[in-house]
Amino acid sequence: MIELKPRVFSGMQPTGSLHLGNYLGALINWVAMQKTHECIYCVVDLHAITAEWLEPEELRQSIRRAAAAYIACGIDPKSSILFNQSQVTEHAELAWIFNCVARLGWLNRMTQFKEKAGKDRENASVGLYAYPNLMAADILVYRGTHVPVGEDQKQHLELARDIAQKFNNDWREAIVAKGYADGMFFPQPEPIILGPATRVMSLRDGTKKMSKSDPSDLSRINLTDDAEAIARKIQRAKTDPDALPSEPKGLEGRPEADNLTGIYAALAGTTQEAVLKEFGGGQFSTFKKALADVAVAKLAPITSEMTRLSADPAEIDRILADGARRARAIAHPILNEVKDIVGFVRS
Ligand code: TYM
Repeated sequence: MIELKPRVFSGMQPTGSLHLGNYLGALINWVAMQKTHECIYCVVDLHAITAEWLEPEELRQSIRRAAAAYIACGIDPKSSILFNQSQVTEHAELAWIFNCVARLGWLNRMTQFKEKAGKDRENASVGLYAYPNLMAADILVYRGTHVPVGEDQKQHLELARDIAQKFNNDWREAIVAKGYADGMFFPQPEPIILGPATRVMSLRDGTKKMSKSDPSDLSRINLTDDAEAIARKIQRAKTDPDALPSEPKGLEGRPEADNLTGIYAALAGTTQEAVLKEFGGGQFSTFKKALADVAVAKLAPITSEMTRLSADPAEIDRILADGARRARAIAHPILNEVKDIVGFVRS
């Protein structure tokens, strides 16, 4: 039997600057998983052109900035593989095959497409619609088994699992003939959604997700914000008039309190319960000062490292090229096997 190796894959879109949600929901776990797994981390630039287009030079800068953010947060480009998606064409090739595996009905259920396309669905790009198929290809072209993400990506991961399963079922005979006795060519990639801040909410509205596309910059903490901006945004974050509760059950119906204490817990590496034990009964103003301190202590070194790295774009390009070469070395033979299974002629 051919053994399946555990392998981590994840990615982020280089559209605008990365924010606290990306950091706490995903990056923190990416960094931690480097200790235990083989990890592949990607700047998903092909996904970045599915909605609004950036100016070409702005997109290039944005890709480099995302790579710098990964490294500044603790991704080691020597032990992990770090690259941008468009340099490894195997992603797009497998995505085409997955376009022919996934069913329209499956994609029609994707809530992120509905949110992003909004009312003007007819005008959304075909790429935005097929986006989850490319995401499945990103993971499965490496036969990725573990995918650290925030909660909002859960549905996309379920789709990736459905695609893997349908592929394995539909081509079972060819897969078994290739030596995969159990018929498992593609693994079922598992979402890793971990920590007290898997869904970081907007600082202006605790019922809305913190996102790059929110028109209000006060709604999010960007990884490029300096200490003064971080403190100001936290100070101006929406709260409610009551004191903080002492236990998590007291957070029900209080989305802003829930969000801010969750952020504190994630930044301080503790639990929300412990945070409430410490700050419960106190006023938001006291808590916000402590939150600003912990946020600045954690994020300021990341920001300054990003600035340092960004001063040498040639070095970032070199890291991305090296990562792409190593990524291709894994993806290419897997895609060749897929081509054999499907029945393409290749030389
Ligand atoms: P993207 O670029 O929107 O977000 C990158 C990662 O950050 C997480 N995230 C959040 N987590 C908590 N709270 C938030 N407010 C928040 N906002 C974003 C996301 O869950 C994600 O983990 N489709 C993906 C990119 C992608 C991908 C992949 C991910 C493409 N191919 C393959 C994993 C595997 C996306 O748009 O993420």
